[in-house]
Amino acid sequence: MNLGLKTPILPAGEAAVRQAARLLAEGGLVAFPTETVYGLGADATNPAAIARLYQAKGRPAFNPLIAHVGDIGAAMQIGRFDAHAARLAEAFWPGPLTLVLPKTKGCPVADLATAGLETVAIRVPAHSLARDILRAFARPVVAPSANLSGHVSPTTAAHVQSDLAGKIDLIVDGGPVEVGVESTIVGCFEQPMLLRPGGLPRGDIERVLGRTLAQLPEDAGSDSGQPLAPGMLASHYAPRTRVRLNAESVEAGEALLAFGSHAVPGVDAATIAMNLSPRGDLAEAAANLFGYLRSLDARGARGIAVMPVPHHGLGEAINDRLRRAAVGRE
Ligand code: TXA
Ligand code: MG
Repeated sequence: MNLGLKTPILPAGEAAVRQAARLLAEGGLVAFPTETVYGLGADATNPAAIARLYQAKGRPAFNPLIAHVGDIGAAMQIGRFDAHAARLAEAFWPGPLTLVLPKTKGCPVADLATAGLETVAIRVPAHSLARDILRAFARPVVAPSANLSGHVSPTTAAHVQSDLAGKIDLIVDGGPVEVGVESTIVGCFEQPMLLRPGGLPRGDIERVLGRTLAQLPEDAGSDSGQPLAPGMLASHYAPRTRVRLNAESVEAGEALLAFGSHAVPGVDAATIAMNLSPRGDLAEAAANLFGYLRSLDARGARGIAVMPVPHHGLGEAINDRLRRAAVGRE
């Protein structure tokens, strides 16, 4: 087990995949890229490894984890698919979609990973490196985002190192991720329900289902006692610097997180500014979001003024993460 101050980083490749699978089998913690964000993997069947994972992230153990598997066949060993779930898996896996399903009878995922719920969250990631590791390990891997609990999710290996150095055993570096926000989570209950907007736009899902997704009740978050979405803590993806949403202008001492090409009143030569997508492209903005929040957070500004981002397509997930970044920090 790694006890040093830094965690070894291996470049993508066969050696890294072999080492990752070996460490997972020993109960180790391995960070690896998925197409959405970097995940911190542990053997989903090993309670000791999962306990260490919660500890490394500083994550409350009542917040369950997503089990990652290589294909639908492996997913069916874990969760019970109804017709909606089967249709979604068929249409969108591998990809940035997580399904919450009732557990199967012999579900191999440890109770600690599902926080004692009767349901389990499952995802088949699309990133080739994640898939190679899952194939080599041949068991489900639980993987939350590879950040300290409450920080923004990592989109590069360097972000993982800066949050978790010395607390985990290996980081596999596959370069910056493609999507940049976490997977969309759909609960396959009586009515399919959107539990977390994410990298797969709601419209794509509704088109395949031929119906609208039910909406999570407003009070279904952390302390409502509602088990539907235990992880939807109101303040979650939060930088330390105060975040001000829907800013139409920049105030003195604020940094600017811009979107699109219009001029913003208050910007001068001293303003620290980053633009999520000068051409107004939501996919580009999603890919840049967490990295830019991290950079701006490190600049010591009085606050971060965020320009409005349109709410359609990936904008729903971007606005969800921005809203959480703005909650509860002063
Ligand atoms: O894109 C992603 O989903 C990334 C990559 C690494 O796959 N993973 C990720 O994991 O975002 P995490 O742990 O940061 O977020 C998982 C969310 C949490 O909010 C958790 O509460 C929710 O999934 N979740 C897990 N199991 C659940 C369940 N049985 N019912 C409802 N929500 C569940
Ligand atoms: Mg997370």
